[in-house]
Amino acid sequence: MTAPVRLIPTAPNADNIAIINIDNPPVNALSHAVRQGVIDAITQAEQDENIAAIVIYCQGKTFIAGADIKEFGKTPKEPHLPEVLQRINQCSKPTIAALFGTVLGGGFELALACHYRVAVRGTKLGLPEVTLGLIPGAGGTQLLPRIAGVELALTMITSGKPQKVEQLDSYGIIDFLINTDSSNKEHLLTETILFAKQLLEKNHASKIITQLPMILDSEQKEAAHLLCQQFRDKLAKKSRGQQAPQSAINSIENSFTLPLNEAMVKEREYFVACRGSTQSRAMRHAFFAEKMTAKLMHSGDTKPTPTDITSVAVIGAGTMGGGIAMCFANAGISVSLLEMSQSNLAKGINAIAKRYQQAEARGIMTKQKVNQCMALITGTCDYQDLAQVDLVVEAAFETMPVKQQIFSQLDKVCKPEAILASNTSYLDIDEIAKATTRPEKVVGMHFFSPANIMKLLEVVATKYTDAQTLTTAMALGKKMGKISVAVKVCYGFVGNRMYACYGREANMLLLEGATPQQVDNAMVQWGMAMGPLAVNDMSGIDIGYQARQANTERPDDPTYFGAADMLVEAGRLGQKTHAGFYQYDEKTNKRSPDDAAIKLINAHATKLGIKQRNDISDEEIQQRLIFALINEGAYILEQKIASRASDIDAIWLNGYGFPRHLGGPMCYADEIGLETVVATIKKFQQQSGNTYWQVAPLLEQLLAQGKKISD
Ligand code: 3HC
Repeated sequence: MTAPVRLIPTAPNADNIAIINIDNPPVNALSHAVRQGVIDAITQAEQDENIAAIVIYCQGKTFIAGADIKEFGKTPKEPHLPEVLQRINQCSKPTIAALFGTVLGGGFELALACHYRVAVRGTKLGLPEVTLGLIPGAGGTQLLPRIAGVELALTMITSGKPQKVEQLDSYGIIDFLINTDSSNKEHLLTETILFAKQLLEKNHASKIITQLPMILDSEQKEAAHLLCQQFRDKLAKKSRGQQAPQSAINSIENSFTLPLNEAMVKEREYFVACRGSTQSRAMRHAFFAEKMTAKLMHSGDTKPTPTDITSVAVIGAGTMGGGIAMCFANAGISVSLLEMSQSNLAKGINAIAKRYQQAEARGIMTKQKVNQCMALITGTCDYQDLAQVDLVVEAAFETMPVKQQIFSQLDKVCKPEAILASNTSYLDIDEIAKATTRPEKVVGMHFFSPANIMKLLEVVATKYTDAQTLTTAMALGKKMGKISVAVKVCYGFVGNRMYACYGREANMLLLEGATPQQVDNAMVQWGMAMGPLAVNDMSGIDIGYQARQANTERPDDPTYFGAADMLVEAGRLGQKTHAGFYQYDEKTNKRSPDDAAIKLINAHATKLGIKQRNDISDEEIQQRLIFALINEGAYILEQKIASRASDIDAIWLNGYGFPRHLGGPMCYADEIGLETVVATIKKFQQQSGNTYWQVAPLLEQLLAQGKKISD
């Protein structure tokens, strides 16, 4: 193995400028060998009398993108990053970072520790540590406020969102912005060497960190404290339950209240505490789970190359179809939207235009981008117009005869190599595929509503789908910025099948005497983005009702979703009728508890012979809903509907508002221990006497072997 860091003592056309060349694919992460290599290279360069300045440069697609996240779960090895950065900063010869790509976390901190920074246009700078349950641990919370001010530091560090160098032009972070983009790396190196030469000619000295004092007068300090408090309050709501953003604010506050050395020590303490926390473990798991979903498990040796998809069609211009069309257009793919009538088509295209206008008004998209996207979307009522498209996504009415009729029609008009995908949420895609003469080219592409916003895409392989089709659908998802997860066919696939168990328990608890707000509050307090019943009201209780009615595998049990079904039959469909589990103000749509709903539910419980109790605790609610998910997830793994436990987590994190700092249901099960999970499920089985709480054999088996779900 070649060393990931090399000192090149003489740069092209500059004998007194050295290059520290970092080559640690894929993203030049600061693994142990890189940290040690940088220290050695700096030492060597300092000792070499012929070297007057040092450029830090990276091979590959990006400058250093951060610490090596894979090392976080292991025993830390010296030298630690702060030591490396201190060495760079205290180097007697000017150090200059040549930036391109995504300069993130420890990579950005390393750049800030350099005496100068040169970047090409389009370079992204960021401190995304909070997204991993961490805070910057090598000076980010101290150097960024000192160089660019407290407000920018608070914004960048607590959001974790990278920003382009062009947007940061006025903050004094970059000393020289080269007018070329990152694809021209040769130019970056040449220009950085030129910059270093000019520094030497002008006799510029190194800028040592300790020479970066944070001098704020008392008025500025007061304003900075106030700003910190505003961020604390905002994040207490936005990042509910997460420790890292609050620790980051505390550390940034130290930048103007403590001397630098003390504040750096405190920063490291916060970082180390976060790194060892269950929250960070879970968020790191989430990071790798999302990367892992793209890795398909192929049976053969050869991995198919995805087919290039340049034109698609979407069947159905309703909310879902329109959202899907937007996903394709956003990714630069031309879309033909098919509807049954011109009036429906016009309605659908107008609704898309409105959604784009809203995105523009909110500053999410530029006018130019909106125009480009709208130009990619065309409409038709004629199937013949779909003859040349590469792929079709059907988003029509959710019944088998309708879907089969559409697929049969598509099969006749589309070119033989075209992929035919269904957006069905529940139906058996094996059966849909049989309506065509190309079942191997039929696949599920299950988007989540609103399709243009939600990150999740379940890519459903039928028993006929070939590897080429699956790979292409997965790659297309990635192109649209989705987290694509490959799953197999079963009722509700992975996400909705598990959600049915979660909803079943929420409904059962209502019949047993819990109120809707008690159930929802318990789940929000636990960490879910919204309570299940408020979600159900929002999406329409009748949607699930219809799906259950059509489900031939539905349990023959009147208590199964008994509360929801009764409310639908009483005309309470949720927000759209201003009444469901809650009531909604007709003007403001504001939700409030509704005694009428509670009375109806209680009367229904009596009718079903369910004895209600008033001792239902929040803990019972949380465990029943979450453990129902875990148990079903284990069945799904056992049946190989999902390939990995981490795929299930990625689905729940990106499609159902599962709290990221708990890592997903399967990660959570490992964290609390399978012993607790199995024992509690058995207790619920005894308590309920119903058949829903059969412990999944996989859980029992793993427990007996002393293993975890992730093993
Ligand atoms: N450590 C280890 N592996 C990393 C990594 C990191 N920091 N960042 C990315 N990788 C790996 C990915 O797991 C993936 O591996 P795989 O090919 O085996 O699946 C590979 O690099 C390529 O990553 P992507 O598929 O994500 O490539 P993209 O080009 O789409 O994105 C990226 C590149 C923007 C750098 C993205 O990977 C990313 O955001 N990485 C995380 C960056 C980060 O969070 N840095 C901060 C780390 S914490 C820190 O620095 C603490 C410090 O303050 C002390």
